[in-house]
Amino acid sequence: MTTQTPGLHAVPAADPAAQAEQDRAGQEHFDRIIAEDSRVEPRDWMPEAYRKTLVRQVSQHAHSEIIGMQPEGNWISRAPSLKRKAILMAKVQDEAGHGLYLYSAAETLGTPRHVLNQQLLDGRAKYSSIFNYPARTWADMGAIGWLVDGAAIANQVPLCRASYGPYGRAMVRICKEESFHQRQGWEILYELSHGTPAQKQMAQDAVNRFYGPSLQMFGPPDEDSPNSKQSMAWNIKRFSNDELRQRFVDMIVEQAEALDLTLPDPDLKWNEDRGHYDYGPLDWDEFKAVVSGKGPCSVQRMQRRRQAHEDGAWVREAAAAYARKTAAERASAELIGA
Ligand SMILES: [Fe+2]
Ligand SMILES: [Fe+2]
Repeated sequence: MTTQTPGLHAVPAADPAAQAEQDRAGQEHFDRIIAEDSRVEPRDWMPEAYRKTLVRQVSQHAHSEIIGMQPEGNWISRAPSLKRKAILMAKVQDEAGHGLYLYSAAETLGTPRHVLNQQLLDGRAKYSSIFNYPARTWADMGAIGWLVDGAAIANQVPLCRASYGPYGRAMVRICKEESFHQRQGWEILYELSHGTPAQKQMAQDAVNRFYGPSLQMFGPPDEDSPNSKQSMAWNIKRFSNDELRQRFVDMIVEQAEALDLTLPDPDLKWNEDRGHYDYGPLDWDEFKAVVSGKGPCSVQRMQRRRQAHEDGAWVREAAAAYARKTAAERASAELIGA
């Protein structure tokens, strides 16, 4: 038997009976945390399925932030003014930061970042399907900010209360930055929509292309999302995919009116009985294809990521060499001191 505080992740016990007792106490502690709606921290005992679900979700989220830098990164050098360039650069850098917080959160679950990164590079890990679409015009920077970052906010604000502490805390800062991203996208679209007819057309075209994929960012319909129920029982997810999607639709219909742009869905209409907007069916076959690497830019996104990883090899080598050097210096200073 170990003498650990119940619930803390204990060193595996020597005999099966002791191990079983340790797991029972750990499970009890975990269940109490979930029932009280408080937080699970890295050193707490947790069911393996909970840990696995979180590693998958948090790392997919991190990969999405990193791959998501590409469609907008392509437009930094083509931004129409210095101000727009500075804003877009700040936004893309934020996304890199989001990736890093999230990889750090995932590491606290016991899977190192280089392992997660390798899964992405090998094509074994998924990331949000939306980033496999091209950003064709400057107006796409507006549509991505308004709709894609907007959908991210709708999805992520409830995750600030996720039961796993490091994930929830990372989401607090991420959501604040996403709000800025959404506002800058909104402003780009507003200016274009109130500019020349050609600019307005460009804004409308961008919204037409990003509307469907942004609704798909919430994931498959509830009946096709078997893991959602368990994630909700564990207080990781707070609302189902369809609930979040509905919230988002209700929000953007009015925002589109203020932008003087239309949403490309003939079935979109207010439903008095439900107190929500009805919307038309989404193309889930397209979603499945795009999320599994068959999107219009999937190959390009992965090539670019692998190239960036290779280009960064010298940084990793230099950091490792520096760490070795300082460790050796410290060791010899201790020897002299002793
Ligand atoms: Fe982000
Ligand atoms: Fe963002």
